[in-house]
Amino acid sequence: MKVGKIIGLVFVLVAFIVGMAIGRGGSAGAPVITASSGGASFSGGFRVEGGKVVGSGNAKSVAGPPMTDIVIVVEDGQSIQEAVKNAEPGSTIQVMPGTYKETVYIDKDGIRLIGIIQQGKRAVLDGEGKLNDAILYSGNNIVVENFMITRYKGNGIMSQAGNNWEIRNNIIIDTGVYGIFPQLGQNGVIEHNVVSGIEDAAIYVGMSDNVHVAYNDVFDSVAGIEIENSRHAVVENNYVHNNAGGILAFITPGLPIKTTFDVIIRNNFIVGNNHKNFGAPGSTVSGIPAGTGILIMAADDVIIEGNIISDNKTIGILITDHGHASNVTVDPESEPNADRIMILNNTMINNGYDTLDEIKAIMLTEFKAGAPDIGRVGPSEGSCIINRHRYVTVGVDDFSECEFTNTADIANYLLEPVPAMDIHGEDRGKIAYLGICAGCHTYTGRMVGPSVQIIQALYMDNPEGLAAYITSPVKKRDDYPEMPPQNYLDEKTRLAVAKYMLEVTR
Ligand code: HEC
Repeated sequence: MKVGKIIGLVFVLVAFIVGMAIGRGGSAGAPVITASSGGASFSGGFRVEGGKVVGSGNAKSVAGPPMTDIVIVVEDGQSIQEAVKNAEPGSTIQVMPGTYKETVYIDKDGIRLIGIIQQGKRAVLDGEGKLNDAILYSGNNIVVENFMITRYKGNGIMSQAGNNWEIRNNIIIDTGVYGIFPQLGQNGVIEHNVVSGIEDAAIYVGMSDNVHVAYNDVFDSVAGIEIENSRHAVVENNYVHNNAGGILAFITPGLPIKTTFDVIIRNNFIVGNNHKNFGAPGSTVSGIPAGTGILIMAADDVIIEGNIISDNKTIGILITDHGHASNVTVDPESEPNADRIMILNNTMINNGYDTLDEIKAIMLTEFKAGAPDIGRVGPSEGSCIINRHRYVTVGVDDFSECEFTNTADIANYLLEPVPAMDIHGEDRGKIAYLGICAGCHTYTGRMVGPSVQIIQALYMDNPEGLAAYITSPVKKRDDYPEMPPQNYLDEKTRLAVAKYMLEVTR
């Protein structure tokens, strides 16, 4: 057979299959409409024993009530760090309006760091473009509320291996790499924060479980809200606009915790995320195509429901495996595909009007025209969608019809306060590694910093040298940001983490 004939035959076949697919959707007359108000509710994912979930409505308490009635007041001109140092575990520290130019480290449990807002005036943490982090904590049952945080180079609020946290009602502007960044923790709430101008993710949930991200206003950042290597997360009622990518559920390969699943993204406003991607070149987020509303990469069991997704120029929802993502080194230990993605009713308007050539090319193979709302590349098993006729889609024709229409059965995935994580015991090296270093270093590839494999080659038998470097890092690589000093960790922990970093094998 001549090549032309073969191509002709393939076209006929494809047209036939596409025709069948359209036929199945009911091309003759009005399509079948699946209403989400009645119908079955999704009830998969996490189930709390006895069906107990903490709080409903829009202020969730997972840190539990104050452990003591000690209240310490910090006045303008005094030091917050000094107050933390002198505080008993379980104390409430109230910070009066004023400007505080410092980094606050908390390594005690039960500290409630509460900014006092008086007639609109807040306690402002100002890093003056010089300090790395505003608030770093490694305790459990921590509450951070009502601050204004600006001009830091590293993180606004970072939690490093702590459980039961509440980060609420903070305004975070232009603070470097991550705005709000809980790393390695269970049972946390991030709500009512306003976060903007962040070079990586404005809200970045890393390697955590049972997380609730709600009612936040997130804009002008590279990634709006990122759920990464985490499980049992609800992201709801957020306003996510003018970022390069809006809401992301990811597996970043090369991190020690390898999965992301049971994520519900619902009732968010995901609007005009067309900001130029200003992520550090080579970093994972710099690979996000600007103009993406929701991006699912390799995560499983993700439900997308009730969002208003509009004016995202590349695409409204993009589902990808690791193989098709840019700036990602495949990790043989992470399952690379985005499986069981469930797209329920969403309001999608004016997305995909200036999309990528790659997406256009796939559309051509499916004989589709127009601006894509939803696209999928790479394998995806067990995924489903309802009311697919409403959208211009690519790569989702083989998604089944979902067996449920809403997630009303799941208020959240939060728990009563869970036991504290022990950060000072034998595992301190491992916990510091997971809780701190893995925020910027993966085993296999470049994240914010170089890969652990490269570091292992540099410091093979020299944990002391590594510990010395992290105590006061010097700038080594022109195309990387500076590494923030880890001198807030005690000497024992620095050596333990150095040893651990040199030992890990994945
Ligand atoms: C906020 C991000 C961040 C965190 C957190 C972080 N690093 Fe880094 N790290 C970097 C960056 C960026 C570089 C590259 C710096 C350079 O080349 O100038 C780096 C470089 C390094 C190097 C290479 C030094 C050399 O001689 O080339 C080591 C070792 C290292 N980090 C260890 C650690 C350890 C251990 C931790 C956890 C305690 C850690 N890092 C946490 C960002 C981070």
